[in-house]
Amino acid sequence: MHRILLLPGDGIGPEVTAEARRVLEAAADAAGIGLEFETELIGGASIDAKGTPLTDEALERARGCRALLLGAVGGPKWDDMPVNTRPERGLLRIRKELDLFANLRPAAVFPALVDASTLRREVVEGIDLLVVRELTGGIYFGEPRGQAWVNGRREARNTMVYDECEIARIARVSFESARRRRKLVTHVHKANVLEVSQLWMTVVEEVAKDFSDVRLEHQLVDSMAMLLLKEPSRYDVIVTGNLFGDILSDEAAMITGSLGMLPSASLGEAGIGLYEPVHGSAPDIAGQDAANPLAAILSAAMLLEHSLDAPDAANAVRDAVADALASGARTGDLVAPDQPSIGCRAMADLVLSKLGSR
Ligand code: IPM
Ligand code: MN
Repeated sequence: MHRILLLPGDGIGPEVTAEARRVLEAAADAAGIGLEFETELIGGASIDAKGTPLTDEALERARGCRALLLGAVGGPKWDDMPVNTRPERGLLRIRKELDLFANLRPAAVFPALVDASTLRREVVEGIDLLVVRELTGGIYFGEPRGQAWVNGRREARNTMVYDECEIARIARVSFESARRRRKLVTHVHKANVLEVSQLWMTVVEEVAKDFSDVRLEHQLVDSMAMLLLKEPSRYDVIVTGNLFGDILSDEAAMITGSLGMLPSASLGEAGIGLYEPVHGSAPDIAGQDAANPLAAILSAAMLLEHSLDAPDAANAVRDAVADALASGARTGDLVAPDQPSIGCRAMADLVLSKLGSR
């Protein structure tokens, strides 16, 4: 029996997590894997009920689980709060406390969705990349940070800091991933301005020596933002720090059709994995059964692969998603405003029926 902790969170989080759980349960069942589900609050939901975006009890419970499946955090209700008490803090805390330093964000295009992208078909076809984002360091966590009055003016600061061990371990993850893929690592940096990026450059080069079968190249983050639009199918594994990875992974998601499609896995050395859609809490459509559950469902597939060692079950879920899309079904995010679409629950029902009939 594997313990799975559900962290539905805010906005559309509870809807998509509920659907992902149904699909996860069905796929695990078919593979003879027993799962036991528990639920905890995170984000704004936890602030409202417990006064903090993540309680110590929720964190302890997470430590006792094999994997965590998270929805989304945040919303307008909590937007005016200072950064250190906001819903997002709950997510950052759980990533940091569980040392989930390796964030894997695969962006591939489903054949049925080639025309859903805002880019031309010939640019989009064949996109299959993996953003490997460092998740527990960099400017998100660096000290000193904060706002203060200095010489009668308001001043604010954040610090981008990485040590060589943090860089080496994420670089290793990227090379190991590339080895199982098309064997190209693109390191994204801003070494023409930042000392931090210069250290990344040096350490990534050092780690590359252990992976002579993988090709390494370096790309400035501003050109990378452009190249992802120009020639996205050229890229295989993109490795970068926390902030650049946050930005580029949204871009990578969007060029494949919709942010509503992109899953992620956050892994560390402790063996616990956190799985969550890359999209946010989408408060504008929350509670209307209008969300796209596929990013959450594909996150459940990553959970099967990375935390339950069930790659076949993971692929069965991915194939079921491809089948559902091939049948023409679309949630609202995947169609023009005047086109027909189905709801969150109906999309998950369809994936479940495709899964059952494979
Ligand atoms: C993401 C999100 C988070 C991040 C927010 C919600 C803190 O944008 O997972 O990409 O910036 O890491
Ligand atoms: Mn983000």
